[in-house]
Amino acid sequence: MLAAAGSAVGLGNIWRFPCEAGANGGAAFMLIYLCCIFLFAMPVMLGEFVIGRSSRANSVGSYRVLAPGKPWVITGFIGVLSGFLVLSYYSVVAGWTLGYTVRDIIKPFADEADATDLAARFTNFVSDPLLPSLCLITFILITHLVVSRGVEKGIERYSKLLMPMLLAILLVLAVFSLTMPGATQGLKFLFNPDFSKVDIYVIISAMGQAFFTLSVGISVLATYASYFSQQTRLIPSAFNVCIIDTIVAIVAGIIIFPAVFSVQGVEVTEGPGLVFIVLPYVFQNCFGSTPVLCWIVSVLFDALLLLAALTSSISMHEISTAYIHETYHVSRQRAAWTVTAVCISLGIVCSLSFGIWNAITVAGMTIFELFDYLVAKFFMPLGGILICTFVGWDMKHKLVREQLSLATDTIIHRLQTHTIFFLFRWLAPLGIGIIFVYELLK
Ligand code: PHE
Repeated sequence: MLAAAGSAVGLGNIWRFPCEAGANGGAAFMLIYLCCIFLFAMPVMLGEFVIGRSSRANSVGSYRVLAPGKPWVITGFIGVLSGFLVLSYYSVVAGWTLGYTVRDIIKPFADEADATDLAARFTNFVSDPLLPSLCLITFILITHLVVSRGVEKGIERYSKLLMPMLLAILLVLAVFSLTMPGATQGLKFLFNPDFSKVDIYVIISAMGQAFFTLSVGISVLATYASYFSQQTRLIPSAFNVCIIDTIVAIVAGIIIFPAVFSVQGVEVTEGPGLVFIVLPYVFQNCFGSTPVLCWIVSVLFDALLLLAALTSSISMHEISTAYIHETYHVSRQRAAWTVTAVCISLGIVCSLSFGIWNAITVAGMTIFELFDYLVAKFFMPLGGILICTFVGWDMKHKLVREQLSLATDTIIHRLQTHTIFFLFRWLAPLGIGIIFVYELLK
């Protein structure tokens, strides 16, 4: 369960959420996002848990066990393909985090900078052809090291310690951020919805963010659930993961937006650089009077963010590694090397799309944006529809009830079963489906 939470909490919460919320109007986006989390993404997560634990196999293998000969395995292949794509571009941002961490460690204490400097520093760094690629390669190699040794033991152990630490430091920063001059404006932006700004694009982005932040739709969690013990209770686990993940995202919003409205020269619509420009400013402002403290807090925060990114990237790597290892009977090591090599190559392409390959676009998107679009707004919702439909309509009712610990015939269990099956069969697939089709037609 902790490993699943580790997969969910990551750059999606602290980097992608503020960036998407900023670009899509703030509070209205957040409301739609919350609905998507609980009505759509959570059922998909439960579905993945059921599929993974009942089959005890990787993303593709699970469908071969549960529905042999049927086309549902496509869902598993969507997972493997998305695993490659998402790890490639996620590592770009994780690489930036690594770069910033190293920089924060070695930078002089009294390194004051205003927002324009910070923005320029970010742009210079990400558009460099060499440094971000090196950071990205290092990050993927670290991921590789953990994955090739086997996920089950390592992550659990340190998720237990790191997650509360990350949350604690986020809360401290949130309190400081609330003392900044732009606090009221920032909170208003985040919590006071203006529905006139909502269009289909905002809804699609909110749904994409809900899926991305919970790591659902691409069988990451099904792969993890194949390692769950029989005692793990799936419904409370899914619910807890959703709650923890949502809290982290909202706290990240509470840190970023008051700060954005307190600095001249940064817009909420800044895009992928938002957090990297604003956070150093927050550190500087909150702890600037005590440089040592500023140094400690920023390094600690960087390190925790990096580790949160690592627990997510491990889960992305694991989908494809588990598939290759179990299907082609090659060693775990060799399977992991294949994934690593492919992702480093694709990752460098994504990284260069912030610099020298910026002009290469597909349908108006850079390669980095294209990968993000394909994963969050295409494969994840599509996988989500397929997973819910499979669990709701194709799997044996009894097996699903057993997995969900709802097998007795008490009224309460029957009521819960009805509700969950309503979500699996109707609400989630139709809801996600309508938004998805609308997106394709627009
Ligand atoms: N949920 C992770 C995050 O918020 C990202 C992720 C996406 C992890 C897809 C695994 C699969 O950072």
